[in-house]
Amino acid sequence: MSVTESAPPVQQRGRWPGPIRLRRGWARADARPWNDRTPDANLRIIRGGASFLDACTAWLIGSGAPSVLSPPLGSGAAKTWESVGYQRSVPLSLMRLELAQPVPAPNHLVVSDDVVLDDLLRIDHAAFDDFWQFDRVGLEEAIKATSNARTLTIRGPEADPVAYAVIGLGHAISYLQRLAVHPDWQRSGMGRSLVRASARVARTAGTRAMVLNTQQQNEPAIRLYTSEGFVTQPEPLTVLRRS
Ligand SMILES: CC(C)(COP(=O)(O)OP(=O)(O)OC[C@H]1O[C@@H](n2cnc3c(N)ncnc32)[C@H](O)[C@@H]1OP(=O)(O)O)[C@@H](O)C(=O)NCCC(=O)NCCS
Repeated sequence: MSVTESAPPVQQRGRWPGPIRLRRGWARADARPWNDRTPDANLRIIRGGASFLDACTAWLIGSGAPSVLSPPLGSGAAKTWESVGYQRSVPLSLMRLELAQPVPAPNHLVVSDDVVLDDLLRIDHAAFDDFWQFDRVGLEEAIKATSNARTLTIRGPEADPVAYAVIGLGHAISYLQRLAVHPDWQRSGMGRSLVRASARVARTAGTRAMVLNTQQQNEPAIRLYTSEGFVTQPEPLTVLRRS
């Protein structure tokens, strides 16, 4: 006689659509809508294997998410997602700036940490298309992604912020989590000033290098980062999707 054991159901805390925690036994995952313009789910496995990933994905699609997207993953981690039907959807370049040498000064006055989230969201919504823009949850998540974060802004003539960057400071590596310049102010050197100011903050904090990821098709951003000394790493990242 054979006995077929079925896995216990995934349990959730929180209400979908909204930030939720999914669990099954010891396995844990966080999910939230991609942003407030895109109903797809963004899923992050905290601990658990392919079967839990598969179950979380089924739960989210069963709850109305048109598709589920992974975080940016290297090819090793991507294999687990591919094993349960995810496909590579958005190729990203991983770029790195060594901070051994001093970083040139920015050409604009850059202010640190004096921010109102609504101001940053206004810039972000104008700068990014619907899919890539942050909603409040995404912005707060980016700021809280590391225990030590800084937000930098450049103000326009009316003293309102028109460009911003979010930096996460780790022990050895810092992360340029976000960079956006309002379209009215693009091509006036503000992006370059924020990259420099971010790298100077990271260097002063004692980190050895700054890393970031960006869409491979984002030519303006890649040109900017390359001209400031960032080097594209051999292994790209990818966001995977399952519908
Ligand atoms: C990418 C971005 C931050 C650049 O900011 P910016 O203030 O316009 O850039 P700068 O004026 O400092 O330009 C610096 C360099 O970037 C490159 N660059 C900027 N915009 C460019 C464009 N539209 N086309 C080609 N190269 C561009 C150029 O090499 C430029 O140097 P140059 O002016 O000497 O030619 C801005 O276009 C933006 O906010 N884009 C939307 C959001 C985004 O993609 N953020 C980055 C995500 S990783």
